[in-house]
Amino acid sequence: MTLHLGDEAPNFQATTTYGVINFHDYLGDSWGLLLSHPADYTPVCTTELGRTAQLSEEFKKRNVKAIAVSVDGVEDHHHWVKDINEVKETKVDFPLIADQDRLVSTLYDMIHPNASGTQTVRSVFVIDPQKKIRLTFTYPASTGRNFNEILRVIDALQLTDNYKVATPADWNPGEDVIVSNAIKTEDAVKQFPKGVNEVKPYLRYTPDPGTNK
Ligand code: BEZ
Repeated sequence: MTLHLGDEAPNFQATTTYGVINFHDYLGDSWGLLLSHPADYTPVCTTELGRTAQLSEEFKKRNVKAIAVSVDGVEDHHHWVKDINEVKETKVDFPLIADQDRLVSTLYDMIHPNASGTQTVRSVFVIDPQKKIRLTFTYPASTGRNFNEILRVIDALQLTDNYKVATPADWNPGEDVIVSNAIKTEDAVKQFPKGVNEVKPYLRYTPDPGTNK
């Protein structure tokens, strides 16, 4: 099944390193970050899961719960987590789904047969508190994901949910954002008291309304 932005994230029940969980119940009112990993005891995945754990406080600040999936069993997951904690000097504090029957991988289209018939690619799903899929991206097994980019895009999603703005290319929190084209400039100056810079009638910047600067 192809999943599109705005679709409800399919629910599932799965065995994980935290016991059997219902995905939607696990997410509760939080945002979700669902990451697929090709296989246990693989080097790139080890660095990625370690990085996710190291960013635990950053995810908490953004009300995001991480969860990872790999097609190996839960016993392997538990042993591998010990390795990850050791080599990345961290503590994996989120569940790893044991997807030996590939139910979750199939539900989320994480196996791309022309890349590998058995392992998942590196999929990322960001899911909002209403369980809507808000972002997907897919990397090949040989390329580790950029976790600063994952945080950046979560910041952009949360900002644009709260203000009538969009974020320009290469935006980072604290930098100017683009005023929504649905707002007339005369209204924009009232809505954005930090100021509006009209470069073109369709391209108006305002300082990041999500920061106190
Ligand atoms: C890795 O995680 O290191 C990896 C997994 C599958 C293929 C290539 C690399």
